[in-house]
Amino acid sequence: MNNQKHPTKQKHELQVEELLSEMTIREKLGQCVMIEPCFCVAERVSEQFGESYTGTDDPEFLSMLLEKYHIGAFLFGGASQIGDGSAEAWASYIGRVTQHNQKTRLKIPMMYGIDAVHGVNFMKGSTIYTHNLALAATWNPTLTEQYAKTVGAELSALGFNINFAPTIDTARDVRWGRVYESLGEDPFLASQIAGALVKGMQSAGNLAGCAKHFIGYGESRNGMDRTQADLSDRVLLEMHAPPFEKAIEEGVLTMMVNGADVNGVPVPVSKKLLTGLLRDKLNFQGITLSDWEDVERLYSRHKVVTNRKESLVRSFNAGLDMNMAVCNIGAVDSMEEAVQEGLICEQRLDQAVRNILLTKFKLGLFDAKPVNISDAATRVGNAESKAIAKQLALESITLLKNENEILPLSKRSQSILITGQSAASKRHLCAGWTLGWASAKEEDLDCETVLDAIKSIVSADTSITFAATAEELKALKVSPSDFDVCISVISEEPHAEWVGDSMDLSLEQAEQDILQASIDTGIPVVMVSMIGRPLKMTWVDENVAALLWIYSPGTEGAASTAEILFGDANPSGKLPISFPKDGSQVPCVYNARSYQSDEIWTRYEPLYEFGFGLSYTHFTYSNLRVPNRVKVGENLEVIVTVTNSGQRAGDEIVQLYLRDQFATVSRPLKSLKAFSRVSLEPGSSETVTLTLTPADLSLYDEELNFVEEKRTIDVLVENLVSEFSIEGSYTKS
Ligand code: GLC
Repeated sequence: MNNQKHPTKQKHELQVEELLSEMTIREKLGQCVMIEPCFCVAERVSEQFGESYTGTDDPEFLSMLLEKYHIGAFLFGGASQIGDGSAEAWASYIGRVTQHNQKTRLKIPMMYGIDAVHGVNFMKGSTIYTHNLALAATWNPTLTEQYAKTVGAELSALGFNINFAPTIDTARDVRWGRVYESLGEDPFLASQIAGALVKGMQSAGNLAGCAKHFIGYGESRNGMDRTQADLSDRVLLEMHAPPFEKAIEEGVLTMMVNGADVNGVPVPVSKKLLTGLLRDKLNFQGITLSDWEDVERLYSRHKVVTNRKESLVRSFNAGLDMNMAVCNIGAVDSMEEAVQEGLICEQRLDQAVRNILLTKFKLGLFDAKPVNISDAATRVGNAESKAIAKQLALESITLLKNENEILPLSKRSQSILITGQSAASKRHLCAGWTLGWASAKEEDLDCETVLDAIKSIVSADTSITFAATAEELKALKVSPSDFDVCISVISEEPHAEWVGDSMDLSLEQAEQDILQASIDTGIPVVMVSMIGRPLKMTWVDENVAALLWIYSPGTEGAASTAEILFGDANPSGKLPISFPKDGSQVPCVYNARSYQSDEIWTRYEPLYEFGFGLSYTHFTYSNLRVPNRVKVGENLEVIVTVTNSGQRAGDEIVQLYLRDQFATVSRPLKSLKAFSRVSLEPGSSETVTLTLTPADLSLYDEELNFVEEKRTIDVLVENLVSEFSIEGSYTKS
């Protein structure tokens, strides 16, 4: 066992011990409380202390927070804005708070956290990227890492050092309003993208990522946000833990905790999950952070404590290091009482503060340079960020239907009818968490709409007619011969969190109306879905000629959409999530545990399946080579040849699934275990090697030991099937 710790880590640990020994109880407690200054002022919490402050900059206000309460971290909620919302305003505010913090006795640097979940999405002029579900649809960890690195650099240039991202929950129920923020239904794909996001975001070393929301948030009992989840240990380990394991492997520095009740215990007070699973089994070393006021909700919502002080005590003793207390500055007083009463032991307090201080040392905060405001301003909406955002949109866009290959359209089409209010909307392109918690104001975004992008890509002779609503369209009294094609852009009101929960997955009425009116014209309809997650598309699939899912593609997404519609680019996105036929077919996931049987209703029959996506060209697979056997502990190399047998260049995502022929426990119908994106010119081929590790071949046995059980396994790549056997013996971990 190499107990030679990394010299830097050793140095930081010594510095932490030295600092810890100088700190008072109150100073330690202040490190464990994260406050939202804008909310404090808006809620006039200072009046509880007999004072009233003019604003977040008020020196008296900052003195109260930093010197009296020793608060060690600020966050800024989705609705908060500093000054005019510019880079200069944000960077200079953080600079002023940092300066004020120099008045404190120990000058322990502050952490500043915010949600930059699809770009620096709280700041005007910043590039807004597509959301996480579309990142997963690119199946491109390399590009994803580049995106995260770019966003991380822009965010830390402003002075922030925690990004409350990535959301890495596996979404196992599409009724959930946050599916668009997730990385889809599959733990392996979610892990690969999660790892890339953490690695990219933390690559500069001065910004902490925040893996969220540990654990089981994406599979509540009825799909609604934050309602109870009853998940077996097996489901937690097989379907929800892998992305968090990967984030931890990539060194994620903070972990935000799911505030909901999982198996009868809200996670913030679940010692089994916060300490037993997260620390002891998954070996997470960083800061555990509550979600917004979730400690308070243990009392106000979950009723698992009889008073507010007990909520602080129970969560802290369960393993929560930092409380996103928002306005509850008094939490420091209550916790100080709890320490004096022996309800919180100093050893646990020191452990939490160690995690926090070690993270601050790792981020270099103790010798951080002052915020460089001009550097911050140059990064806002720069060419690099726009190029990456456009490429992500291009690679995520998924073609779900293309009857008679109506797409791509001709740029020299004579006349095109465009319908749907979202075609002319910027805020629908960006969806939730944009310049606000839910949605930006149209006038605050500066980007092309889909309508703009189509107008600029078609020839000068092409006539474009636009109708935003069903009423407008009906008033045009069009006949089928008037137009070559109708492009109908369908979306949904931007939303965040529980606001987006959908019981029956139906389209919003106005969207249904304009789509129906478009179809009623008798003109062939190409539907462009700007809906961030799967809704019910069965009727759509039966009535449109083509369906292109662009997700919520962000400020650069309109150009990408037009390029794919008119053939300058070839769609290559693959579904990271299944489309159920309707709301009654939920949960509908490709990797449910299942019998291999027809007489029992266990079949997976969605409208569009996980991993599906059409192209303007065609790919054929051949020569699948799989060794007959593999020894326990050894890698297995699978080789396959992919050929572009069509007329256009295109990208294909080679997907490798495993299917246990037999095992000692019930297994998923199949499991994604490797993938690779290849770019092929027409007629060319590529031989792809996909490597499976012993972990890919392992399973949780009946006692939940993770073992490489001897068995025979099918290998599925597109339409090709082979098999191999695992030989040798294994030791139970
Ligand atoms: C919200 C979200 C969480 C976000 C936090 C801070 O409640 O659940 O994802 O990071 O508040 O804005």
